[in-house]
Amino acid sequence: MSDPILRAEGLTKVYDGGYRTVALEDVTLEIPRGSLTCIMGPSGHGKSTLLHLLGGLDRPTSGRVYLDGEDLTAASPRRLAGIRSRRLGFVFQFFNLLPMLTALENVQTAMLLAGVPRREQEARARELLRLVGLEDKLHAKPNQLSGGQRQRVAIARALANDPDLLLMDEPTGNLDSRSEEDLLEQVRAVHARGKTVVIVTHSDTVAALAERTVTIRDGRVVPG
Ligand SMILES: Nc1ncnc2c1ncn2[C@@H]1O[C@H](COP(=O)(O)OP(=O)(O)OP(=O)(O)O)[C@@H](O)[C@H]1O
Ligand SMILES: [Mg+2]
Repeated sequence: MSDPILRAEGLTKVYDGGYRTVALEDVTLEIPRGSLTCIMGPSGHGKSTLLHLLGGLDRPTSGRVYLDGEDLTAASPRRLAGIRSRRLGFVFQFFNLLPMLTALENVQTAMLLAGVPRREQEARARELLRLVGLEDKLHAKPNQLSGGQRQRVAIARALANDPDLLLMDEPTGNLDSRSEEDLLEQVRAVHARGKTVVIVTHSDTVAALAERTVTIRDGRVVPG
């Protein structure tokens, strides 16, 4: 058995704004390299928080996250940004598209950050948007797209740099069952190429695809 691609040790996240919330408490888990893992659990119980920590998008209150043995919680912001753009694809629950940019430009931005030459960026962005069925919306801005279409742009963007690790937060939450099937086909293809995929979902169809499911309840992993 090879080393896990991701390892979380004793992750705790406390949000201390107006409401003090313990969103995650002492979560320890491993994501095997090349696996397809689903994270499930009730609304508000810490799934997005966990995914953000696993992707180095936020820092835990305590605990560690190791990506290929490197401690992300100790990495500088610059180092983290580099790792994120080269190795990780992230689909946010609420998409995080740049509102002033078109669909094509939103996908290209990810490649810009990773230093892909401009001509290549555009060709690849077109191909990815075709894959998610948006070839006729290349120049639409997010507010001209439906929720499901925005989600598909976010997915194309996450795939832009052919990431080793694809982290998706409810990627099919706004999709009809046909579009969900299409998306899952692409996830299967990414996984078949040896990539690691972690999907937060409420969908049993998505969960059926996974090799393993981690259940989060009240900020803790439910023993499986
Ligand atoms: N930035 C924040 N500041 C304060 N509290 C937060 C913040 N983000 C999340 N929380 C709280 O942390 C808890 C976990 O939130 P999280 O977004 O991880 O849940 P979730 O499992 O992804 O839920 P859902 O299925 O609804 O997306 C919730 O109680 C939420 O209110
Ligand atoms: Mg969430």
